[in-house]
Amino acid sequence: MKLRAPKNGYNFKEKVKYRETVWKTLSKNVKNIQNKKILMFPAYDGDEIYVALKYGVQPKNIYACDENAGIIATAPWRKEFPEIQVFGTKLERTIERMGDMGIKIDVANFDFCSNLCKSVLDDLDNFVSKIATPDFYFALTMLKGREPAVENMLAKMIFKEINGTADRFKIACHYILNDKLYKDKLYLTILKQSQYNSGNRKMSFGVANIKNYYQTQKEWYHKNKEKNKEKIKKRSKEYRSKNKEEINKKQREYVAKNREKINKQQREYWEKNKEKRQKYYKKNKEEINKKQREYAAKNREKINKLKRERRAKNKLKNK
Ligand SMILES: C[S@@+](CC[C@H](N)C(=O)[O-])C[C@H]1O[C@@H](n2cnc3c(N)ncnc32)[C@H](O)[C@@H]1O
Repeated sequence: MKLRAPKNGYNFKEKVKYRETVWKTLSKNVKNIQNKKILMFPAYDGDEIYVALKYGVQPKNIYACDENAGIIATAPWRKEFPEIQVFGTKLERTIERMGDMGIKIDVANFDFCSNLCKSVLDDLDNFVSKIATPDFYFALTMLKGREPAVENMLAKMIFKEINGTADRFKIACHYILNDKLYKDKLYLTILKQSQYNSGNRKMSFGVANIKNYYQTQKEWYHKNKEKNKEKIKKRSKEYRSKNKEEINKKQREYVAKNREKINKQQREYWEKNKEKRQKYYKKNKEEINKKQREYAAKNREKINKLKRERRAKNKLKNK
């Protein structure tokens, strides 16, 4: 369910206080906020832009998004801050576009008008996995209540606030944490949680930091690939020998599941490299034969056992 924008815009007392709380909390926790890339929904009036600037954010680092392209096209702050980069698309689409453009966001304020719903949770989850930096700060605001009764009951069963209602912010945080891709590689700290009134509705909000160790490791790996080739090799060897059983199990499962595909790939590869193989064999015939003889002599028992097993299998098949 979506909340319509208040008649007199977003400049009422509680909203002003909310903005202050969000940006004060962010500026207290985010180091070098003046260099950080920020995503926000500033709406038509853009009051949030001024608050963010007051706390050190630079206009050139702001990415403004609104699903209403008309707002983005006509908002008065566009003239005042031409450096602000704009996206007149739904957050879901903005994430895709930013991903394609290689933009990474350090801080975001998801000031939604809707209540706790699947699309909000999926947008957050996608944001974290696709365009957030590994040390990501975000604020999230949602309309309190008005979820379908079953969802509300389930939500309350999982995370209850002291007053008995569902803790929407915590639910959203846990949704992100449960992303299978990351397993236990995300570390989330809640920095602030509160609520405010918007007319006769209550809005719930929170501010949090997510440290993404999965991405940190990935970035480190790519940055240091050449420099630490030997170190990485040693580490992955250690990892493989430590987790041999698990890795083998996963490989077996993968092969069983994708047998047809793998066989096809192998056949294609085999065909593609036929000539190359024959040439190689011709050139290194002596050496290959010698190696094969040595291997056979060393592993005679094993080979004979395999042959016996194969023969027994074929016998059964032919019966
Ligand atoms: C509550 S207002 C933002 C107010 C602003 N943050 C402030 O402090 O004044 C929310 C704005 O975000 C837009 N919006 C809501 N959900 C969105 C979504 N999923 N994607 C993009 N824009 C969205 C709405 O059109 C609206 O203009």
